Amino acid sequence: MTILIKQPEFVGTEAGERKVYEEEKVLVLDAGLVVPHTTSFGQTFRLTFCLYNDFKTGIMMQKSVEIFYQINHIKQTYDFVQRMRNEYSKLNRVEMSIWECCELLNEVVDESDPDLDEPEIVHLLQTAEAIRKDYPNEDWLHLTGLIHDLGKVLLLPSFGELPQWAVVGDTFPVGCAFDQSNVHHKYFTENPDYYNPAYNTKYGVYSEGCGLENVMMSWGHDDHMYLVAMENKSTLPSAALFIIRYHSFYALNKEDVESPKWLHLFSKYDLYSKSKVRVDVEKVKPYYLSLIKKYFPLKLRW
Ligand SMILES: [Fe+2]
Repeated sequence: MTILIKQPEFVGTEAGERKVYEEEKVLVLDAGLVVPHTTSFGQTFRLTFCLYNDFKTGIMMQKSVEIFYQINHIKQTYDFVQRMRNEYSKLNRVEMSIWECCELLNEVVDESDPDLDEPEIVHLLQTAEAIRKDYPNEDWLHLTGLIHDLGKVLLLPSFGELPQWAVVGDTFPVGCAFDQSNVHHKYFTENPDYYNPAYNTKYGVYSEGCGLENVMMSWGHDDHMYLVAMENKSTLPSAALFIIRYHSFYALNKEDVESPKWLHLFSKYDLYSKSKVRVDVEKVKPYYLSLIKKYFPLKLRW
Protein backbone atom coordinates (compact mmCIF):
# COMPACT_ATOMS: atom_id res chain seq x y z
CA MET A 1 0.00 0.00 0.00
CA THR A 2 1.40 3.37 -0.95
CA ILE A 3 0.55 6.01 1.60
CA LEU A 4 0.31 9.66 0.74
CA ILE A 5 1.50 11.95 3.46
CA LYS A 6 0.30 15.50 3.56
CA GLN A 7 3.49 17.30 4.55
CA PRO A 8 2.78 19.09 7.81
CA GLU A 9 4.02 22.59 8.30
CA PHE A 10 7.57 22.63 9.67
CA VAL A 11 8.60 25.60 11.70
CA GLY A 12 12.28 26.49 11.81
CA THR A 13 15.39 24.99 10.29
CA GLU A 14 15.47 21.76 8.35
CA ALA A 15 15.86 19.31 11.16
CA GLY A 16 18.05 16.83 9.34
CA GLU A 17 20.74 19.22 8.20
CA ARG A 18 22.92 19.15 11.28
CA LYS A 19 23.48 15.44 11.52
CA VAL A 20 26.77 14.04 10.29
CA TYR A 21 27.39 10.60 8.87
CA GLU A 22 30.76 9.03 9.54
CA GLU A 23 31.06 6.11 7.13
CA GLU A 24 27.85 4.19 6.62
CA LYS A 25 27.31 2.55 9.93
CA VAL A 26 27.71 5.33 12.44
CA LEU A 27 25.59 8.38 13.01
CA VAL A 28 26.82 11.28 15.09
CA LEU A 29 24.21 13.58 16.55
CA ASP A 30 25.24 17.07 17.52
CA ALA A 31 24.71 16.28 21.17
CA GLY A 32 27.81 14.12 20.86
CA LEU A 33 25.91 10.85 20.89
CA VAL A 34 27.42 8.26 18.57
CA VAL A 35 24.95 5.62 17.46
CA PRO A 36 24.87 2.78 14.94
CA HIS A 37 23.08 3.75 11.73
CA THR A 38 20.61 1.12 10.62
CA THR A 39 17.69 0.77 8.26
CA SER A 40 15.54 -0.97 10.86
CA PHE A 41 13.99 1.10 13.59
CA GLY A 42 12.03 0.80 16.78
CA GLN A 43 11.92 -2.26 18.93
CA THR A 44 14.05 -4.20 16.48
CA PHE A 45 16.80 -1.68 16.89
CA ARG A 46 16.41 -1.51 20.65
CA LEU A 47 16.83 -5.25 20.65
CA THR A 48 20.00 -5.08 18.61
CA PHE A 49 21.31 -2.41 20.93
CA CYS A 50 20.58 -4.71 23.82
CA LEU A 51 22.41 -7.57 22.09
CA TYR A 52 25.51 -5.43 21.83
CA ASN A 53 25.51 -5.02 25.60
CA ASP A 54 24.66 -8.48 26.86
CA PHE A 55 24.26 -11.47 24.57
CA LYS A 56 22.26 -13.67 26.96
CA THR A 57 19.93 -10.92 28.09
CA GLY A 58 19.54 -9.96 24.46
CA ILE A 59 18.37 -13.45 23.45
CA MET A 60 15.84 -13.52 26.30
CA MET A 61 14.63 -10.07 25.38
CA GLN A 62 14.35 -11.12 21.72
CA LYS A 63 12.00 -13.97 22.69
CA SER A 64 9.81 -11.83 24.92
CA VAL A 65 9.59 -9.10 22.27
CA GLU A 66 8.53 -11.73 19.73
CA ILE A 67 5.82 -13.02 22.07
CA PHE A 68 4.71 -9.43 22.60
CA TYR A 69 4.33 -8.91 18.84
CA GLN A 70 2.55 -12.21 18.40
CA ILE A 71 -0.21 -11.10 20.79
CA ASN A 72 -0.19 -7.57 19.37
CA HIS A 73 -0.59 -8.78 15.78
CA ILE A 74 -3.38 -11.20 16.67
CA LYS A 75 -5.46 -8.75 18.69
CA GLN A 76 -5.10 -5.42 16.89
CA THR A 77 -8.07 -5.72 14.54
CA TYR A 78 -9.93 -2.96 12.71
CA ASP A 79 -12.92 -3.36 15.03
CA PHE A 80 -10.73 -3.22 18.13
CA VAL A 81 -9.07 0.01 17.01
CA GLN A 82 -12.43 1.58 16.21
CA ARG A 83 -13.71 0.71 19.69
CA MET A 84 -10.61 2.13 21.35
CA ARG A 85 -10.72 5.37 19.36
CA ASN A 86 -14.40 5.86 20.16
CA GLU A 87 -13.87 5.12 23.82
CA TYR A 88 -10.76 7.23 24.42
CA SER A 89 -11.81 10.20 22.31
CA LYS A 90 -14.43 10.87 25.03
CA LEU A 91 -11.58 12.10 27.26
CA ASN A 92 -13.72 11.55 30.33
CA ARG A 93 -11.25 9.78 32.62
CA VAL A 94 -8.90 12.29 34.23
CA GLU A 95 -8.32 16.03 34.33
CA MET A 96 -4.70 17.09 34.81
CA SER A 97 -1.90 19.25 33.44
CA ILE A 98 0.82 18.03 31.08
CA TRP A 99 3.41 18.14 33.87
CA GLU A 100 1.17 16.16 36.23
CA CYS A 101 0.91 13.54 33.49
CA CYS A 102 4.72 13.46 33.13
CA GLU A 103 4.96 12.66 36.84
CA LEU A 104 2.17 10.11 36.59
CA LEU A 105 4.09 8.33 33.87
CA ASN A 106 6.75 7.36 36.43
CA GLU A 107 4.32 4.67 37.57
CA VAL A 108 4.32 3.08 34.12
CA VAL A 109 6.56 0.19 33.05
CA ASP A 110 6.97 -0.22 29.30
CA GLU A 111 7.93 -3.90 28.94
CA SER A 112 9.11 -3.44 25.37
CA ASP A 113 11.82 -1.05 26.51
CA PRO A 114 15.07 -2.62 27.80
CA ASP A 115 16.01 0.54 29.71
CA LEU A 116 13.77 -0.21 32.66
CA ASP A 117 16.18 1.14 35.25
CA GLU A 118 15.26 4.75 34.52
CA PRO A 119 11.95 6.40 35.43
CA GLU A 120 9.95 7.38 32.35
CA ILE A 121 10.19 11.09 33.14
CA VAL A 122 13.98 10.86 32.88
CA HIS A 123 13.72 9.34 29.39
CA LEU A 124 11.27 12.06 28.35
CA LEU A 125 13.58 14.80 29.59
CA GLN A 126 16.69 13.15 28.09
CA THR A 127 14.98 13.11 24.70
CA ALA A 128 13.82 16.71 25.05
CA GLU A 129 17.16 17.99 26.35
CA ALA A 130 19.16 16.23 23.61
CA ILE A 131 16.97 17.91 20.97
CA ARG A 132 17.20 21.24 22.81
CA LYS A 133 20.99 21.10 22.78
CA ASP A 134 21.14 20.60 19.01
CA TYR A 135 18.13 22.75 18.01
CA PRO A 136 17.90 25.45 20.67
CA ASN A 137 15.39 27.58 18.75
CA GLU A 138 12.81 24.85 18.09
CA ASP A 139 10.99 25.01 21.41
CA TRP A 140 8.00 23.11 19.96
CA LEU A 141 10.33 20.17 19.24
CA HIS A 142 11.66 20.21 22.81
CA LEU A 143 8.11 19.97 24.10
CA THR A 144 7.32 17.22 21.59
CA GLY A 145 10.24 15.26 23.04
CA LEU A 146 8.83 15.70 26.52
CA ILE A 147 5.24 14.69 25.76
CA HIS A 148 5.45 12.15 22.93
CA ASP A 149 5.08 9.11 25.22
CA LEU A 150 2.46 10.46 27.65
CA GLY A 151 -0.18 8.23 26.03
CA LYS A 152 1.43 5.35 27.95
CA VAL A 153 -0.81 6.31 30.86
CA LEU A 154 -3.24 3.90 29.16
CA LEU A 155 -1.40 1.22 31.15
CA LEU A 156 -2.59 2.71 34.46
CA PRO A 157 -5.80 1.68 36.29
CA SER A 158 -7.30 5.19 36.01
CA PHE A 159 -7.06 4.82 32.21
CA GLY A 160 -8.50 1.32 31.98
CA GLU A 161 -5.22 -0.50 32.58
CA LEU A 162 -4.86 -1.61 28.96
CA PRO A 163 -2.46 -4.52 28.29
CA GLN A 164 1.00 -3.78 26.89
CA TRP A 165 0.05 -5.02 23.38
CA ALA A 166 -2.59 -2.25 23.18
CA VAL A 167 -0.26 0.55 24.29
CA VAL A 168 3.35 0.12 23.14
CA GLY A 169 5.33 -1.36 20.26
CA ASP A 170 5.46 -0.51 16.56
CA THR A 171 2.18 0.63 15.01
CA PHE A 172 0.76 -0.28 11.58
CA PRO A 173 -2.31 0.50 9.47
CA VAL A 174 -5.43 -1.62 10.03
CA GLY A 175 -8.38 -2.05 7.65
CA CYS A 176 -6.12 -3.08 4.76
CA ALA A 177 -3.62 -5.86 4.07
CA PHE A 178 -0.84 -6.05 6.66
CA ASP A 179 2.42 -4.93 5.09
CA GLN A 180 5.33 -7.36 4.88
CA SER A 181 7.65 -4.72 6.34
CA ASN A 182 6.00 -5.00 9.76
CA VAL A 183 8.20 -6.66 12.32
CA HIS A 184 7.23 -10.35 12.96
CA HIS A 185 4.77 -10.15 10.05
CA LYS A 186 4.08 -13.90 10.15
CA TYR A 187 1.84 -13.52 13.20
CA PHE A 188 -0.73 -11.50 11.26
CA THR A 189 -1.96 -14.80 9.83
CA GLU A 190 -3.58 -15.33 13.23
CA ASN A 191 -5.43 -11.99 13.09
CA PRO A 192 -9.11 -12.44 12.02
CA ASP A 193 -8.79 -9.44 9.65
CA TYR A 194 -6.23 -11.41 7.66
CA TYR A 195 -9.08 -13.54 6.31
CA ASN A 196 -11.72 -10.80 6.03
CA PRO A 197 -12.13 -9.69 2.38
CA ALA A 198 -13.20 -6.24 3.54
CA TYR A 199 -9.81 -5.71 5.20
CA ASN A 200 -7.27 -7.92 3.45
CA THR A 201 -6.84 -6.22 0.08
CA LYS A 202 -4.18 -3.66 -0.82
CA TYR A 203 -6.43 -0.68 -0.05
CA GLY A 204 -9.02 -2.43 2.13
CA VAL A 205 -11.57 0.07 3.48
CA TYR A 206 -9.56 3.00 2.02
CA SER A 207 -9.17 4.39 -1.45
CA GLU A 208 -5.95 5.07 -3.31
CA GLY A 209 -4.49 8.43 -2.33
CA CYS A 210 -6.83 8.94 0.63
CA GLY A 211 -4.00 10.35 2.77
CA LEU A 212 -2.30 8.96 5.85
CA GLU A 213 -4.41 11.06 8.23
CA ASN A 214 -7.47 9.04 7.13
CA VAL A 215 -5.84 5.67 7.75
CA MET A 216 -6.50 4.03 11.13
CA MET A 217 -3.36 2.86 12.88
CA SER A 218 -3.14 0.05 15.42
CA TRP A 219 -4.17 1.42 18.80
CA GLY A 220 -1.54 2.62 21.24
CA HIS A 221 0.01 5.53 23.09
CA ASP A 222 0.77 7.48 19.90
CA ASP A 223 -2.84 7.85 18.80
CA HIS A 224 -4.04 8.43 22.35
CA MET A 225 -1.70 11.38 22.94
CA TYR A 226 -2.54 12.76 19.50
CA LEU A 227 -6.26 12.71 20.38
CA VAL A 228 -5.56 14.38 23.72
CA ALA A 229 -3.50 17.15 22.11
CA MET A 230 -6.05 17.75 19.35
CA GLU A 231 -9.17 17.70 21.52
CA ASN A 232 -7.60 19.99 24.12
CA LYS A 233 -6.75 22.49 21.36
CA SER A 234 -2.99 22.43 21.67
CA THR A 235 -1.33 25.15 19.61
CA LEU A 236 1.67 22.96 18.76
CA PRO A 237 2.51 23.08 15.02
CA SER A 238 1.20 20.30 12.81
CA ALA A 239 4.73 18.85 12.54
CA ALA A 240 4.68 18.17 16.29
CA LEU A 241 1.26 16.51 16.12
CA PHE A 242 2.48 14.37 13.23
CA ILE A 243 5.48 13.18 15.25
CA ILE A 244 3.30 12.39 18.27
CA ARG A 245 0.85 10.43 16.13
CA TYR A 246 3.34 8.41 14.09
CA HIS A 247 6.55 8.08 16.09
CA SER A 248 6.00 4.31 16.47
CA PHE A 249 5.07 3.79 12.80
CA TYR A 250 8.52 2.59 11.78
CA ALA A 251 7.31 1.20 8.45
CA LEU A 252 7.16 4.86 7.36
CA ASN A 253 10.82 4.30 6.56
CA LYS A 254 9.83 2.13 3.63
CA GLU A 255 11.29 3.24 0.33
CA ASP A 256 7.94 3.84 -1.41
CA VAL A 257 6.88 6.31 1.22
CA GLU A 258 8.23 9.82 1.18
CA SER A 259 8.94 9.86 4.86
CA PRO A 260 9.32 13.24 6.52
CA LYS A 261 12.96 13.81 7.40
CA TRP A 262 12.23 15.37 10.77
CA LEU A 263 10.29 12.30 11.85
CA HIS A 264 13.45 10.29 11.13
CA LEU A 265 15.42 12.79 13.12
CA PHE A 266 13.04 12.64 16.06
CA SER A 267 13.18 8.82 16.02
CA LYS A 268 16.93 8.94 16.46
CA TYR A 269 16.69 11.23 19.46
CA ASP A 270 13.87 9.13 20.87
CA LEU A 271 15.81 5.89 20.53
CA TYR A 272 19.35 6.97 21.26
CA SER A 273 19.16 9.76 23.81
CA LYS A 274 19.13 7.43 26.80
CA SER A 275 22.56 8.47 27.90
CA LYS A 276 24.13 7.76 31.26
CA VAL A 277 23.93 11.46 32.03
CA ARG A 278 21.17 12.10 34.51
CA VAL A 279 18.89 15.03 33.86
CA ASP A 280 18.31 17.28 36.86
CA VAL A 281 14.52 17.32 36.76
CA GLU A 282 14.10 20.29 39.13
CA LYS A 283 16.64 22.35 37.21
CA VAL A 284 14.98 22.00 33.81
CA LYS A 285 11.39 21.93 35.08
CA PRO A 286 10.79 25.74 34.89
CA TYR A 287 11.77 25.78 31.19
CA TYR A 288 9.36 22.98 30.31
CA LEU A 289 6.58 24.48 32.40
CA SER A 290 6.93 27.65 30.31
CA LEU A 291 6.60 25.62 27.09
CA ILE A 292 3.57 23.77 28.42
CA LYS A 293 1.97 27.11 29.24
CA LYS A 294 2.70 28.35 25.72
CA TYR A 295 1.22 25.38 23.86
CA PHE A 296 -1.41 23.83 26.17
CA PRO A 297 -4.24 24.87 28.47
CA LEU A 298 -3.54 24.66 32.22
CA LYS A 299 -5.69 21.55 32.66
CA LEU A 300 -6.41 18.98 29.99
CA ARG A 301 -9.12 16.36 29.67
CA TRP A 302 -7.65 12.86 29.27
FE1 LIG B 1 6.60 6.20 22.15
